[in-house]
Amino acid sequence: MNSAGSNPLVRTVASTQSEMTEIILPNDTNTLGHLLGGRLMHFIDLTGAMAAYRHSRTHVVTAAMDHIDFIRPVHLGDLVTLKSSVNRAFAHSMEVGVKVWAENTRTASIAHVASAYLVFVAVDESGRLQAVPQLIPETPDEIRRYADALRRRKYREAESARRKQERLATAAQEEAEAGKP
Ligand SMILES: CC(C)(COP(=O)(O)OP(=O)(O)OC[C@H]1O[C@@H](n2cnc3c(N)ncnc32)[C@H](O)[C@@H]1OP(=O)(O)O)[C@@H](O)C(=O)NCCC(=O)NCCS
Repeated sequence: MNSAGSNPLVRTVASTQSEMTEIILPNDTNTLGHLLGGRLMHFIDLTGAMAAYRHSRTHVVTAAMDHIDFIRPVHLGDLVTLKSSVNRAFAHSMEVGVKVWAENTRTASIAHVASAYLVFVAVDESGRLQAVPQLIPETPDEIRRYADALRRRKYREAESARRKQERLATAAQEEAEAGKP
């Protein structure tokens, strides 16, 4: 059980699957009539959070959004469908995958336009970390994504440690330069 008391110890990927469809209106687009990247990132964040809520059944915050591939533009009037599910759960965090398709409403053609991975962290009302149920991958695709999620976590941790070292080195250099006569 997690701190909510009523959560099971494990959940399936299927139980986290979430979906959202939006129509692209003029306010969502740039001067070329293409969907703004930031707007698409907002949709990705929302759909990703839905899967994380379904897995953790508590509050979640976005800790990281990485590996976004904008494959092709989305146009004014297109229907954008986003699908998400949890790839892997750790102690308090979950990696969620989001895949995005655009449908041309006149031709009915559908194209994969973007994919992203996000990490959500479960917290309570006061922002304290919450344990999340573990995830059971069942299908071959789910098992592959489960393994890939661990590789990406290790990469994120290494990158985060490298950036921290870089910040510390820059701060030390700035301090030394400020102290120079
Ligand atoms: C995300 C947050 C809760 C982590 O808190 P923290 O005290 O740094 O927590 P810890 O370092 O103990 O890490 C807790 C978990 O978060 C994960 N995590 C923390 N920072 C992360 C990052 N940048 N990327 C991926 N995972 C991260 C850790 O891997 C750990 O996972 P685990 O417990 O499943 O192993 C905190 O940094 C935060 O509140 N950030 C702001 C979130 C936010 O405002 N998002 C936008 C609006 S929703």
